[in-house]
Amino acid sequence: MSTLARTQPQPATTPERRPTGRSVLMCRPEHFTVVYRINPWMNPAAPTDTNLALAQWQTLYDTYVGLGYDVALIDPVDGLPDMVYAANGGFVLDGIAYGAKFTHPERQPEGPAYMRWFGEAGFDVHVPDEVNEGEGDFLLVGESILAGTGFRSDSRSHEELARVFGREIVTLKLVNPSFYHLDTALAVLDPTPGQEHIAYLPSAFDEASVAVLRERYPDAIIVNETDAAILGLNSFSDGYNVVIASRAADFERQLREHGYNPIGVDLSELLLGGGGVKCCTLELRR
Ligand code: ARG
Repeated sequence: MSTLARTQPQPATTPERRPTGRSVLMCRPEHFTVVYRINPWMNPAAPTDTNLALAQWQTLYDTYVGLGYDVALIDPVDGLPDMVYAANGGFVLDGIAYGAKFTHPERQPEGPAYMRWFGEAGFDVHVPDEVNEGEGDFLLVGESILAGTGFRSDSRSHEELARVFGREIVTLKLVNPSFYHLDTALAVLDPTPGQEHIAYLPSAFDEASVAVLRERYPDAIIVNETDAAILGLNSFSDGYNVVIASRAADFERQLREHGYNPIGVDLSELLLGGGGVKCCTLELRR
């Protein structure tokens, strides 16, 4: 490569990013607190501030509304402090809502609460047989579903998912307890078939899974440990706008270089429960 070629700005290869509309479900953190510990981020001895959680969550909600998304709300239930992490409430695609069956007893009542909402909203509800935590572990990219396992969703749920949706399921094994859900270690930046683009943290996966990711997504953004450690990957993209943790500085820079519009939101209070932007967001695909 000549010196001239190397000094050329690189966007010749950066595809034009276009936002496509999004329809999401969220849950106001009215009862948010940390009273049990089911992931390394949670410390029941440390104080939480529900009003601050509400204010930060409101900023995320307002951001989505400002981007033109259709945002639906499910009523929070007293005694279910993690219900704010709506991504775990199920996986919704083709008008079908595959319900969640939570690993830990503390969250198990959330499954039926979300399924009731899906039914009332007109989705065809599939009551799950296998343990799974919804979009926390299942992410649609192109025509395929990337499916995490290792900490929460049982690999048998991947087979159930394949039967329900008739799509290719790509199983990925998580190995670091701090990144216990797939959406804490991998972000879908563009799910559009033919231009699939993701970001991820390689060290969160076992070797075989990293090999699969490298092969399928050679141009993926690799996020550094610092940004991943504040759940920077736990972000929500519409193909152009990417709502991320405001402190994820290097990820923000990389997103800009790849033609995206990163929008930082501070959810520090919800991070005390081990969740960020994506955890608070469940995509609804009719
Ligand atoms: N405290 C919750 C749990 O451990 C946080 C869930 C975060 N959600 C997510 N989609 N990663 O289950």
